[in-house]
Amino acid sequence: MVPDYSKFPPEHIPISLEALQKLHRQIDTPAVLIIEERMQKNIRSIQALANKTKCRLRPHIKTHKSAELAKRQLKAGAVGITVAKLGEAEVMQQAGIHDIFVANQIAHPHKIRRLLKLHRKGRVIIGLDHPRQIDLLRPVFTQNNKPLEVRIEIDSGLKRCGVQSKEALLGLANRITREPWLKLEGIFTHAGQAYGAASPEAIAHIGKEEGRIVAEAKGWLEEVGLQIETVSVGSTPTVNYSAQNEQVNEIRPGNYIFYDGIQMALGVCRPGQCALFVLATVISRPVPDRIVIDAGSKALNLDRGAHARFILNGYGMPVHHSGFLSGLSEEHGVIQIPPNTSLRIGDPLLILPNHACAVANLYEKYYLVDANLQIGETSVTARGRSQ
Ligand SMILES: Cc1ncc(COP(=O)(O)O)c(C=O)c1O
Repeated sequence: MVPDYSKFPPEHIPISLEALQKLHRQIDTPAVLIIEERMQKNIRSIQALANKTKCRLRPHIKTHKSAELAKRQLKAGAVGITVAKLGEAEVMQQAGIHDIFVANQIAHPHKIRRLLKLHRKGRVIIGLDHPRQIDLLRPVFTQNNKPLEVRIEIDSGLKRCGVQSKEALLGLANRITREPWLKLEGIFTHAGQAYGAASPEAIAHIGKEEGRIVAEAKGWLEEVGLQIETVSVGSTPTVNYSAQNEQVNEIRPGNYIFYDGIQMALGVCRPGQCALFVLATVISRPVPDRIVIDAGSKALNLDRGAHARFILNGYGMPVHHSGFLSGLSEEHGVIQIPPNTSLRIGDPLLILPNHACAVANLYEKYYLVDANLQIGETSVTARGRSQ
């Protein structure tokens, strides 16, 4: 299913083997390397898509969980950020980011109190898809004089959260407008089912549908006299298509900042766009056709395409050598290699992970490698903030 990375034309290889050996002498492993030029290019190109389609870009930062990288996205033109968790929002607000959309439903009493604190300090918008969420928020928010901005989530086919019908949408919108402490700011959807699409054409279709469905929902709200500011869509696979809809005015892709093996397998990116890699060390070669590296499931994650219809044939792709990651235990990665491969114990191995977002959350810091091989470091500020 996934091709041999080492056989791609040289321009796709992020760093030469000699340069990798030099870096490996300076960086203990396992470690996450970010090829800075590629990441900056990814940031610029989705910003350019947003500008061209007259959409605001509000990237989902659950991919990188880094205040520094979020600030780079904002500097390039993003209007704010999207998060999945209040813990992420708290870290980002603390770092000085004050326009945050929590694309999630809030239902725990602790979270409701934490949300109020965030709301008092800066702009925080949350998602709703059921009147019960309003009832849970009311006791804490009703006395507050600054209205809480909310967006109604619409299910455009993912079958996760989101209202399921026109009646449910209008009923919830009506409830929101009757609460003076709430403001209906917009609607949003996430067509994550694109990760299970069978072909690039199927992804295009899902993306167009994602845009059409929210545009239609906006029309239904207008029919009953409700104007909203934001019609928000977004996933990395679909954004090129959903952003084309004229009613859509905000996009929220996340993974595009790094891309990864899953995006490559889906045909969403080229290998030369992948920006995040795991640097590991060969620690054993018990037989000629098997090496073991010091990166296991706690460094690479077990995701082989969680939502995808395909399963990747390994847990990541070695960049400079043929072979595939056939097994991971917690701290060991097992790689089948051709027996004539020159790799020795102590050598570096660079791996393209299957799912960059899941890998980022496993590390405390990123090593940013610039074009001159200078190494910068930045912390994965919100890693593990899953509450
Ligand atoms: C609500 C929501 N918006 C946006 C995104 C970003 O999608 P992607 O990771 O495909 O870029 C996600 C990802 O899970 C999401 O759940």
